[in-house]
Amino acid sequence: MSALRTLDDLLAEGVSGRRVLVRADLNVPLDKQSGAITDDGRIRAVLPTLGALVEAGAKVVVCSHLGRPKGAPDPQFSLSPVAGRLGELLGAPVHFATDTVGDSARSTVADLADGQVALLENLRFNAGETSKDEAERGVFADQLAAFGDAYVDDAFGAVHRKHASVYDVPARLPHVAGRLVLREVEVLSKLTSEPERPYVVVLGGSKVSDKLAVIEALLPTVDRLLIGGGMCFTFLKAQGLEVGTSLLEKDMVETCRNLLERADGKILLPVDVVVADAFAPDAAHDTVRVDGIPSHRLGLDIGPETVAGFAAALSQAKTIFWNGPMGVFEMAAFAAGTRGIAEAITKADAFSVVGGGDSAAAVRALGLDESSFGHISTGGGASLEYLEGKTLPGIAALEN
Ligand code: 3PG
Ligand code: MG
Repeated sequence: MSALRTLDDLLAEGVSGRRVLVRADLNVPLDKQSGAITDDGRIRAVLPTLGALVEAGAKVVVCSHLGRPKGAPDPQFSLSPVAGRLGELLGAPVHFATDTVGDSARSTVADLADGQVALLENLRFNAGETSKDEAERGVFADQLAAFGDAYVDDAFGAVHRKHASVYDVPARLPHVAGRLVLREVEVLSKLTSEPERPYVVVLGGSKVSDKLAVIEALLPTVDRLLIGGGMCFTFLKAQGLEVGTSLLEKDMVETCRNLLERADGKILLPVDVVVADAFAPDAAHDTVRVDGIPSHRLGLDIGPETVAGFAAALSQAKTIFWNGPMGVFEMAAFAAGTRGIAEAITKADAFSVVGGGDSAAAVRALGLDESSFGHISTGGGASLEYLEGKTLPGIAALEN
C-alpha cells in the first residue's frame, strides 16, 4: 500500500480559517422506543481528529450516514441526537444542519467561525450518496465538496462502501486519512502481514454467508478458527448433527462441509450449546451436548464446556481477532458465551483485535474493560473486508 497522507500533514500546512470536510462514521445504535443513543463508541472514536482540527482553528464540517434510509429524509434516521452527544463530548455546541446539501447546510457552513463544528444531516437522505450510477454520485459529491477546502476521511466503518462521501469527494478535494482511519489500518495490517503465532480467530454472528469470504481468506493464515454464534449450527449440521429449530442456512451446509474438510482440524466448533423453547429473554432453557439438541428447541448460546475449550485455545495465542457474538448476548440468559470468550481474550498474553459493531458493542454492553483489548475496531464489514484482502474504495481513494 502506498503511504497515506495524514491529518498531521494537513495540520502542518495550516488549517486555521479553512473549511475541512470530515467524513465520519457516526452510525450509532439507537434505542427503538426512545431513539436514545445506546452506544456512543463511534462518536468518541472520531474525537481525536475533530479535536485536533478545532484546536488548529479549522471550520469543521462533519458528515455521516446513520442506518439505511432509502435516499430520502426519514426522521427516525436523523443525526440530530448525534449532534447533541457530539457537542457534549467536544465541550462545545455542534451546529446542526437539518439537510445535507440544501439551504440549511449552506447557511450553517457559511456561518461557522474558526474552531467551530457543524454536522450535516444524514448523507443517505440523498439518493446520490449510495447510487451505483457514477454520474448521480458525482452530482452529490460536487455539492458536498463545495463545503470543504480539504477532506479528511475518519469513517473507517464505511471505507468498504463505494459511496459519494467516501469515494467521490476525495477525488475532488485535497484529502488525508484521519487519526481513526490511520490507526485502524495500522492495526489490521499487522494481522495480515506476519501475525505473531499462534494466530487464533474467533468468529460468531448469525450468518455463514456473511463470513464465508473471510473464512476462506483466513483459513490458510490462521492456526485456529473458533466458530460460535448462530452460524455454528450450519457447521454442526454439516457434521451430520440435528440442530432443532436453531438458525440454519440450508444452502450453506455443503459449503460448510467442504470448509471443514479443507480446514485440516483448524476449525473448532462448539461441543455444547444453550437451547431454549423460544427466542425470548425469559424462555425456558438448558445446556445440552451438540449431539443432543431437541428437535423443538433452538440454540441461543455456546455452552460452558465450549467456552472452556475455546478459552484454552485463546490462552495459547499471541495474536487474536474476534468478530461476532457467541450468542444472543443482549438477553442475560444467553450472554455467558460471549462474556466468557471476551474475558478469555482479555486474559491471553496476545495482541487482540475486536472487529465490528456488534462485538464492540458487546464488549461495552457487558461492562468489560475496553483497555484490556489491543484494539477495538469501529468497522464490522470494513475490518472483515480488509482481512479478506479486498480493495477498500475509501482507502483506495485516499491513496490516489
Ligand atoms: C456499519 O455499521 O457497518 C457501517 O456504519 C456501515 O454501514 P452500512 O453497512 O449500512 O453501509
Ligand atoms: Mg455493516
